[in-house]
Amino acid sequence: MAAVATISIAFALVFLVCASDFSCASASGRGGFTIDLIHRDSPRSPFYNSSETPSQRLKNAFGRSFDRLSHFNPSSEVAQLDQAESTIIKSDGEYLIEFSIGTPPFPIKAIADTGSDLIWTQCKPCNNCYQQNDPLFDPSKSSTYQTIPCSSNQCNTLQGSCSSQDSACQYEVRYGDRSHPSHTIGDYAADTVTLASTTGTSVSFLNTLIGCGHDNAGTSFHPQASGIVGLGGGDESLISQLGTSIDGKFSYCLTLQNDQTSKLSFGDNAVVSGSGVVSTPLFQHPSQKTFFFLTLEAISVDDTKIPLSSSSSASGGGNIVIDSGTTFTLLEPSFYSELEEAVDKAIGRERVNEMPPCYKVSASEDFKTPNIIVHFSGADVKLEQNNAFRRGSQEACFAFAPSENSISIYGNVAQSGFLVGYDLKGKTVSFKPTDCTKF
Ligand SMILES: *[C@@H]1O[C@H](CO)[C@@H](O)[C@H](O)[C@H]1NC(C)=O
Repeated sequence: MAAVATISIAFALVFLVCASDFSCASASGRGGFTIDLIHRDSPRSPFYNSSETPSQRLKNAFGRSFDRLSHFNPSSEVAQLDQAESTIIKSDGEYLIEFSIGTPPFPIKAIADTGSDLIWTQCKPCNNCYQQNDPLFDPSKSSTYQTIPCSSNQCNTLQGSCSSQDSACQYEVRYGDRSHPSHTIGDYAADTVTLASTTGTSVSFLNTLIGCGHDNAGTSFHPQASGIVGLGGGDESLISQLGTSIDGKFSYCLTLQNDQTSKLSFGDNAVVSGSGVVSTPLFQHPSQKTFFFLTLEAISVDDTKIPLSSSSSASGGGNIVIDSGTTFTLLEPSFYSELEEAVDKAIGRERVNEMPPCYKVSASEDFKTPNIIVHFSGADVKLEQNNAFRRGSQEACFAFAPSENSISIYGNVAQSGFLVGYDLKGKTVSFKPTDCTKF
């Protein structure tokens, strides 16, 4: 029923696999490769702040979860005002991707964002750019860079804006809400996008649709990152553009140990199989293709199974967005209260904070927590302690919270330590418990 991402706007991608000595082979059809995802709090990240304590990082991440949530709301004012701009979400993702644009390849560090679609970077000349630590991409220096002409069918399909028929097709993406607005405006263009695979080779995708941003501003953007790589389900995202060349398959394995890198895999490398794999149906709504929805049925805390009331089930399939860019798992408030009550009872310790609920635990202490199982339709996902509780030096905090609007989100703490595989053709998401530090 839900339309799977079509690649109507994507070019037929040809990709090149290059060894570190720059010898390249053209590849077509399927392939598989894996790249690093760098957590924003990892020492490899430009966001890393060595003087922050684990408790501060946790508190900041909690704040970012809520900021992000307000932008998922499909009925928010901004969403209604700017129907054409489908991407309404704050860009403060939790992971960074290193990649290159152009010929010769120009290196860029950007936020990996499963909550939006367009791949864009700040471009010269800048009419209005936010301050950026790394040099700006200069499209005039790339021999493969081409703007999309306004006269093309593609510009029409992209619903770009045009001042005249012979100008370049313009995009505009807004992130955030009224109190934290951010935007990027610039030229739609095609250029080579190169990803560095973990095997040391690089993979280049020719004629990838990108945004070359000449006017970018807002509180979502920080000097450490030069743009965004959209990993959502919409047509413009990296995932959708790779489309057939990755056979609609990608996966990630997120680690919460900040000194370890997480992994994002595509194509044959993204097949999740073997023992311990559980799978649940994946839904995409035609009007909101960016987000991947799953169906949550219940959550168990030891022997208590708390069902989600049927009124919470969205029509059209799915009732919870799976998102790697939100730290906490955010649930419908009355369902969350029941869950919190059961967890509180099972833990039976002094609380040092109300929201998120944090319990007093010393750093070296063995902290006993209840068994928590997340029951998705057809897939019971048993959480480890690390998936449900984040530990600071003096406390352990429950990594679930009530959603402030109608959207529930399955966040990245709950997903860490699992290989999470998306199959857009088979319309499933699979989970397999995995040591992501060894993946
Ligand atoms: C790093 O963290 C410390 C402690 O929270 C804070 O005072 C400082 O402003 C942070 N530095 C930057 C550059 O954000």
